[in-house]
Amino acid sequence: MKEYYSRSVDETREYARQFAVGLQPGDVVCLSGELGTGKTEFMRGIAQVFNCDDQLTSPSFSIFNSYTGRLKGTPVKLQHFDLYRIETPLELEGLGFGEYIDGPAISVVEWGEKFPDELPGNTKKVFIEAVGESERRIVISKL
Ligand SMILES: Nc1ncnc2c1ncn2[C@@H]1O[C@H](COP(=O)(O)OP(=O)(O)OP(=O)(O)O)[C@@H](O)[C@H]1O
Ligand SMILES: [Mg+2]
Repeated sequence: MKEYYSRSVDETREYARQFAVGLQPGDVVCLSGELGTGKTEFMRGIAQVFNCDDQLTSPSFSIFNSYTGRLKGTPVKLQHFDLYRIETPLELEGLGFGEYIDGPAISVVEWGEKFPDELPGNTKKVFIEAVGESERRIVISKL
């Protein structure tokens, strides 16, 4: 387990970039934490590493987005899920979630902790907690 303290959006993105360089195709990341703690900002940092930050849209309006990026010249697919509005595992299955995260893409799942049984055993877990107006505690561990 690793624990970091961020004092700004930029710092959160920087921790996310450091985390993202260790990611490999097929990896699944569960981003958890209350509303507005910075999960999407963390995702932005990850997307920067794969050079697809410019494609990133506000995920609040959608459940799933897929981006094509690259790492050291190799194409990488990045998938971003926001399960906030998903209520049941059945609903999630109906979206083909299992098949999506099973592939070679790197998957980042906001609110994934709502469905622990739908995440693979080697899922990496990032938990963000607000400890002040712009201070955040970031905990990185295995699920
Ligand atoms: N240190 C920080 N790290 C990240 N975000 C911060 C920080 N300090 C303040 N913020 C603010 O917190 C908010 C985080 O928004 P963000 O959309 O990333 O949250 P979220 O966890 O994805 O929320 P949701 O659950 O609604 O998807 C932004 O308004 C950002 O400016
Ligand atoms: Mg979000």
